[in-house]
Amino acid sequence: MKLPVAELHIHLEGTLEPETILRLAEQNEITLPWPSLEHLREQYDFSNLQSFLDLFYTNLAVLRTRDDFHEITLAYLRRADASGVRHVELFFDPQAHLERGIELGEVIGGIRAGLKEGEERFGITHKLIACFWRHAPATSALEILRTLVAEGHDIDGIGLDSSELGYPPVLFQDVFAFARENGLHVVAHAGEEGPPEYIVQALDLLKVERIDHGIRCLEDEALVRRLVTEQMPLTVCPLSNVRLRTVDTLADHPLKRMLEKGLKVSIHSDDPAYFGGYIDANFEAVDRELGLTPGERATLARNSIESSFLEEPAKKRLTAEVDAWLHAAGRDS
Ligand code: ADE
Ligand code: ZN
Repeated sequence: MKLPVAELHIHLEGTLEPETILRLAEQNEITLPWPSLEHLREQYDFSNLQSFLDLFYTNLAVLRTRDDFHEITLAYLRRADASGVRHVELFFDPQAHLERGIELGEVIGGIRAGLKEGEERFGITHKLIACFWRHAPATSALEILRTLVAEGHDIDGIGLDSSELGYPPVLFQDVFAFARENGLHVVAHAGEEGPPEYIVQALDLLKVERIDHGIRCLEDEALVRRLVTEQMPLTVCPLSNVRLRTVDTLADHPLKRMLEKGLKVSIHSDDPAYFGGYIDANFEAVDRELGLTPGERATLARNSIESSFLEEPAKKRLTAEVDAWLHAAGRDS
């Protein structure tokens, strides 16, 4: 039995596997700078977040139609099912598609159709979160968010992603206030490459319900104490941190230290097609390098479920599945 988990930090566009990128490029008559799979694969050596984002934004240009979004969402859910995911809160970047002239209805309609079909086939429940680019003006984010709300597009929350350094959360106060006023959940990437101060701003000014990444909180003891007291969820992505060089090697990854300090951390995959694996691969890599007891795995899985935006009865049902997994793990060992 796979460990049942909630995947709370995954960018749909980051699930585009190289083969899919080239197939969709051909199908949609998009010319990419890489003529072959081999050339494309050579690009996957990143020096920092920006070097990854440059490739990520180039490749997502192959997504054109509602069917493309439907297809890649379903392909992700098929893979997620095989890795134990029982609930997903999926990120997408509306600005990445709008700036290429693709309508919000096509993007969200396709993703929602894929999520619905995935729930019917695999029983994976879902939420959908629109992430705004911090490298673009906050006025652009606010305008798009107003449209999303006014036109009644089906999203459950907003997030904040893209280049972090130089774009502090304070810039997006109005966007997040508007989202909260309209009953949307709010999360933000912070403390991935950016300093602990960005995490503080995300908490105090954006009033987020979760921090995505957050690993640089360890540089500020008072912040760690606060995050522990508030049991603020931190969605940590170990393979991503190594591939984007925010951590030197997995053996140096702070995940276990964070767990030991009482921080509410969970493991996620960020952009699995770019960073070497889905949520199960992240668990396996951490286990291999840092060692995880069955009890620690279960805590990480329970944290993911408790940190989700599911209603209490659904959280209870999934937590019971984790308890059953732990019981079986104890029996087998
Ligand atoms: N967009 C996709 N992946 C991201 C990451 N790891 N950080 C910021 N923005 C992203
Ligand atoms: Zn991310």
